[in-house]
Amino acid sequence: MQLRGLILSGGSGTRLRPLTYTSAKQLVPVANKPVLFYGIEAMVAAGIEDISIIISPQTGDEIRSVAGDGAQWGVRIHYVVQDEPLGLAHAVLTAEASLESQPFAMYLGDNLLRDGIASFADRFRETRPEALILLQHVPNPSQYGVAELEDGRVVRLTEKPAEPKSDLALVGVYMFQPSIFDACRAIEPSPRGELEIADAIQTLIDRGLAVEPHIVTGWWKDTGQWADMMEANRLVLDAVERSVEGEVHDSHVEGRVVLSPGARLERCRVRGPVAIGAGAVVRDAYIGPYTAIGPGCHIDHCEIENSIILEGSIVADLDVRLEGSLIGRNVRVRRTQSKPKAYRLLVGDNSEIKIP
Ligand code: DAU
Repeated sequence: MQLRGLILSGGSGTRLRPLTYTSAKQLVPVANKPVLFYGIEAMVAAGIEDISIIISPQTGDEIRSVAGDGAQWGVRIHYVVQDEPLGLAHAVLTAEASLESQPFAMYLGDNLLRDGIASFADRFRETRPEALILLQHVPNPSQYGVAELEDGRVVRLTEKPAEPKSDLALVGVYMFQPSIFDACRAIEPSPRGELEIADAIQTLIDRGLAVEPHIVTGWWKDTGQWADMMEANRLVLDAVERSVEGEVHDSHVEGRVVLSPGARLERCRVRGPVAIGAGAVVRDAYIGPYTAIGPGCHIDHCEIENSIILEGSIVADLDVRLEGSLIGRNVRVRRTQSKPKAYRLLVGDNSEIKIP
């Protein structure tokens, strides 16, 4: 069975502000790679050759210019604009023509799964259920769609229930036969005003069609919120292989460190797992575990641990270690000698600064 791919990268990303004021949430990098790319790569590894990507009018152009036509992965990417984020089932209907009414794997563009989706795609091709859904036990089910199982069969799906009946969350990956389009047309908007994919799948269940559940055992992250984004960075960095291709001068590089070509270390100690992007220059600094420094950053006379610093930023001359921080693109954080001695901040909306 030829499987199409659908990645949902519309939506507004309000929970990741301020980063998402200027950029799509699916392009926020994890270990120096946009979250969206992990989804595309998972589809490629599952043998999917045509991928439709849902984009919003606000961030669509940026996503198009970064992911392109798919040639960099040897696949074809088709873009579908969803005018308003009216829900996951609405996104499915918006993509119906692009998917040419074929069976498809759907992947939420802000989700990350350690083991990808290839084994589930194989299973779907083999057993051909009406839908295949992925579930994981979580401590906070009310933040997700929640599934109730009886004798291993799905009996009910509820989107973000206040009183969840189980701890099985819906992971943001689904496989569907074309019957899902009709089911999406049959539902009404939920109390939050969205056409929920959970309700569309419930319609399949109510019609007596086979919905096959699978429990995901490897880690899974929905990176829609700050804390999850930091955690995803740690989990991905934990799996990187050492690869030191940049220049190293008078420096100690310990453990699993990715130093991209064109990056330069001078008089540094870098303790992995760490990723440093192309063209970054790091001088007289300590870079500790679980740090990702984006391409073109300049890091000078400071210590950084457990942090994400995006492309083109400068961090210099700090006498307290930077820790647990997420710094956006082209940000400058530095000590100055100018008088009067005072904090001088130029900070975007919804930012957070903690000073010891
Ligand atoms: O991450 C798993 C959860 O994802 C599931 O457990 C829930 O059942 C499911 O509804 C979804 O919940 P979220 O509240 O996390 O969905 P979010 O609004 O963050 O949207 C997920 C992705 O889909 C995100 O990349 C944005 C995109 N999207 C979202 C909407 C509402 C669209 O492309 N169009 C839309 O209309």
